[in-house]
Amino acid sequence: MKILVIHGPNLNLLGTREPDIYGSFTLDEINDRISSLAAEIGVAVSFFQSNHEGALVEQIQAAIGEYQAIVINPGAYTHTSVALRDAIASTGIPTVETHLSNIYTREEFRRHSYISAVAAGQITGFGLESYLLALRAAAGLAVGDGAR
Ligand code: DQA
Repeated sequence: MKILVIHGPNLNLLGTREPDIYGSFTLDEINDRISSLAAEIGVAVSFFQSNHEGALVEQIQAAIGEYQAIVINPGAYTHTSVALRDAIASTGIPTVETHLSNIYTREEFRRHSYISAVAAGQITGFGLESYLLALRAAAGLAVGDGAR
């Protein structure tokens, strides 16, 4: 079972980027923790990060037939991107939206997600743990014993 973990714009700067909001783990450290959990629960994971909307769309499209679930932190594109939303909807691959911070307790513009309506679910506000919870949810969805 293969799960694709996608990180959107500016998440390559984790570790130094607004650590009071996003924590002090680097993206590599987060990916290492995801890999450890993946090994523990018996799923294969691949990672992709881009600051470019089109590159993210292309990676989502390329997941068709390759991955059984997607975990995505769309970063700021969460709040702006119909293209990412349509790409996720087009794949039919169960997708878990995740965020380090709680997007509902922050600025007004972060409180709307274009992604959530096409995601199986959303996990927001638990820092690094958000990704680990999302991976567990995605693993359940990939084998068809998730919430839907
Ligand atoms: C984020 C929340 C977004 O609003 C923000 O633009 C990000 C990170 C999060 O993980 O908390 O880049 O997705």
